Amino acid sequence: MNILIVTSSAQGDASVSSKLALSFAQQAQSAHPGAHITLRDVGRNPIPHLTEETIAGVRAEPTTEAEHEARALSDELLDELRAADTVVIASPMYNFGISSTLKTWFDHVLRARVSFYYDEQGPHGLLGGRKAIVIESRAGAYEEGNPMDSQEPHLRGMLGFMGIDDVTFVRAEKLAFGPEAAAEAIAEAEAKLADLAREQLPLAA
Ligand SMILES: Cc1cc2nc3c(=O)[nH]c(=O)nc-3n(C[C@H](O)[C@H](O)[C@H](O)COP(=O)(O)O)c2cc1C
Repeated sequence: MNILIVTSSAQGDASVSSKLALSFAQQAQSAHPGAHITLRDVGRNPIPHLTEETIAGVRAEPTTEAEHEARALSDELLDELRAADTVVIASPMYNFGISSTLKTWFDHVLRARVSFYYDEQGPHGLLGGRKAIVIESRAGAYEEGNPMDSQEPHLRGMLGFMGIDDVTFVRAEKLAFGPEAAAEAIAEAEAKLADLAREQLPLAA
């Protein structure tokens, strides 16, 4: 069993989404001692934004040193994702969407002919057959379909585009509604993640 955990908070040790992701990692490791867990923290170690060099290096054959570097990073991130049977994405809501560091991770793993392709019928995802667990932390509360929520539909769309349709969202909401509401939301999310770690992870072949 291979689990990739991507964290993307700008709040370091104060991050709720990273704490929840790490608690999931501990639960998964104790429920499945043989599981291999890879942590990729793009909040603390941001990936460079797309530039002319990255586009040239990733979407065509790289020629310059900068293009080769960009290609190598994209390959590394894609290898981590392709090796995973479960990907856990810890997503803080910033200004109603995902963090820019997480967007940059998607910018590197959404690569034509590796994670998706187009034909006459339209786009097809190439990374199906894996599970995703998305942890969302938010100050407010966003009911299904709230037009201010550009986080969950965006994440569902990008994962689905790569063929990852088996997605479970775990929300820690109302974090700014006072300490009691925040503690309750975090405890609820932690309990859901513990259940997922015990019962929902695909069994090792
Ligand atoms: C820069 C910034 C922007 C934020 N924007 C929103 C927002 O638009 N909506 C919301 O509900 N919470 C917002 N919040 C609150 C965060 O979602 C909340 O702090 C959450 O815990 C972030 O996840 P993290 O703790 O893992 O970083 C914002 C927080 C920061 C620091």
